[in-house]
Amino acid sequence: MAKKKVLILTGGGDCPGLNAVIRGVVKRASQTQDWEVWGSLEAYNGVLNDPVELIKLTGNPIAAGIHVRGGTILMTTTKGGPFNWPVQQADGSWTSEDRSDYLLKKLKELEIEAVISIGGDGSQRISKQLYDKGLKVVGVPKTIDNDLSATDYTFGFQTAVQEASSAVDKLVTTAESHHRAMILEVMGRSAGWIALHSAIAGGAEVCLIPEIPYDTEKVVKRVNSRYQGGRGFVNIVIAEGAKAVDGDVVAREATEVGYENVRLGGVGNLLAEQLKQNGCTADIRVTVLGHLQRGGSPTAFDRVLATQFGVKAFEMVLNGEFGRMVAYKHNDMVTVSLDDATREYNYVNTDSFLVKAARGVGISFGD
Ligand code: F6P
Repeated sequence: MAKKKVLILTGGGDCPGLNAVIRGVVKRASQTQDWEVWGSLEAYNGVLNDPVELIKLTGNPIAAGIHVRGGTILMTTTKGGPFNWPVQQADGSWTSEDRSDYLLKKLKELEIEAVISIGGDGSQRISKQLYDKGLKVVGVPKTIDNDLSATDYTFGFQTAVQEASSAVDKLVTTAESHHRAMILEVMGRSAGWIALHSAIAGGAEVCLIPEIPYDTEKVVKRVNSRYQGGRGFVNIVIAEGAKAVDGDVVAREATEVGYENVRLGGVGNLLAEQLKQNGCTADIRVTVLGHLQRGGSPTAFDRVLATQFGVKAFEMVLNGEFGRMVAYKHNDMVTVSLDDATREYNYVNTDSFLVKAARGVGISFGD
């Protein structure tokens, strides 16, 4: 008897742990007699492209031992999607078209029973729209930003924090040697999770996050206070989405076709200028950590979390729990509706004990 096919895909920005989810699905499915796992390359593009780009993962050695590898063996994309497929016009300009009906037809022809879609909020929204059109889909949350409120943690976040913390550690030693003020800009979109965790872990003096707009004069005061006894040094971690009380988020122009996200970045350099203009006497250097915090091997925590997500996602397929996303809540694997999965953005709660603890060890948020 022909086996039933479940299709797995990764969408949006990559993050460490994606391969561990894929492996979790493949391994758990191989314990059944009647399911095989297929992968679609670059999210749904593998189904929409002609010829299709699908690979059978069950029994395929490329899926073995991949939980330790960063990135995604299925590749991913941040450009367009089935509802927004970029199409070039005769004059060279780009428009987009809705190819969701074609996608569903294609999946039927390929005899795909169910889809496991690993992605951030954008991907989960696409899953919800496809579910409403009849697709049997299960979601798995991923992002280094930890900005999905339905789950306590997303995999990839811990790895990013580890990378950012070790950057702070390194900057501390050189800051100390040169008596400098070091600014480290980290990712996180509109949430300050990576900045907050790495500032606490690395022992930074200042942490600037989107949830607490900073007063430049107060930051300068804190920096200058570190130099009162003579030679001082200071470490500042700033989230890419942070802004001054009287300023705006720093974003770059998105020139890539089909790229729908806002490209954040540059606030670290802006802060350096603001500090100088407001009387900061220290020498300042800026480091933008960038995609280093998204690459490489996932930490053990992220491998374990991602493996649980993969196994649970396949069990959701077995149980027919479609239109839902797996989530990690109170140390357990649970499921939430795709609606609930994307309802609220997960900002840092400024009244949380985490923020209190940061203040408790003397970290200034510039407020
Ligand atoms: O959402 C993950 C993330 O790394 C954000 O922290 C960052 O703003 C963005 O993606 C960068 O996107 P890209 O890789 O498309 O430049």
